[in-house]
Amino acid sequence: MRTKYKPWAKPYIEEHTEVMCPFDNINNCKNYYLEIGSGKGQFLVNMAKNHPDNFFIGMERNVTCAGFTAKKLVEGEITNAKLVYADAGQVLPSIEAESVEGIFLNFSDPWPKKRHAKRRLTSDSFLGQYYRILKRGAKLIFKTDNYDLFTYSLEILENSTFKLVEANYSYDGKDPFDEITEYEASFREEGQPIYRLILEKL
Ligand SMILES: C[S@@+](CC[C@H](N)C(=O)[O-])C[C@H]1O[C@@H](n2cnc3c(N)ncnc32)[C@H](O)[C@@H]1O
Repeated sequence: MRTKYKPWAKPYIEEHTEVMCPFDNINNCKNYYLEIGSGKGQFLVNMAKNHPDNFFIGMERNVTCAGFTAKKLVEGEITNAKLVYADAGQVLPSIEAESVEGIFLNFSDPWPKKRHAKRRLTSDSFLGQYYRILKRGAKLIFKTDNYDLFTYSLEILENSTFKLVEANYSYDGKDPFDEITEYEASFREEGQPIYRLILEKL
């Protein structure tokens, strides 16, 4: 499901600064949930709509996906979510320690080749950053359709400082603090199982 480049996306995100958060400004936001790799924004926008008392930040490095998300935020008149258009590897080190309410990783790119393992959003170095920025008691929630990425992530997470709360091999999508993503909708339509991990920072 490669996203076709749309030339309108970059000018759109540059014009609609009201829904964007420059990455060097992220610490001005407080008590937010972070979705890393937010794609075209369906999860972000619906979480914001259905949980108006919470604040959400999406982080996305693909300009066209960022453009689609910005458009959804503008057209939905969403005021409790913003988008950071940047690579998580660049932004995470600058986020204040113990400042984030929760992190969502939804259908992250699997990077199946071993030599690309460091790029996986559940690799050791990313996990270390997540642990540092999450508040105590906050959760890291990971959904995927990819069994190999799921088992790789489970193994890494079991050996991490996080506490494993849930390892679900057939997630039904019914958690009230969750929303379906674009990728998830298409995998569910094909009848593929959805795997989910929940980890807690103690
Ligand atoms: C497979 S798509 C899933 C999109 C969406 N979460 C969904 O479930 O529909 C993964 C997304 O993560 C983004 N992404 C991957 N690595 C990233 C990184 N290091 N920083 C920010 N975004 C990233 C990609 O650009 C892509 O849009």
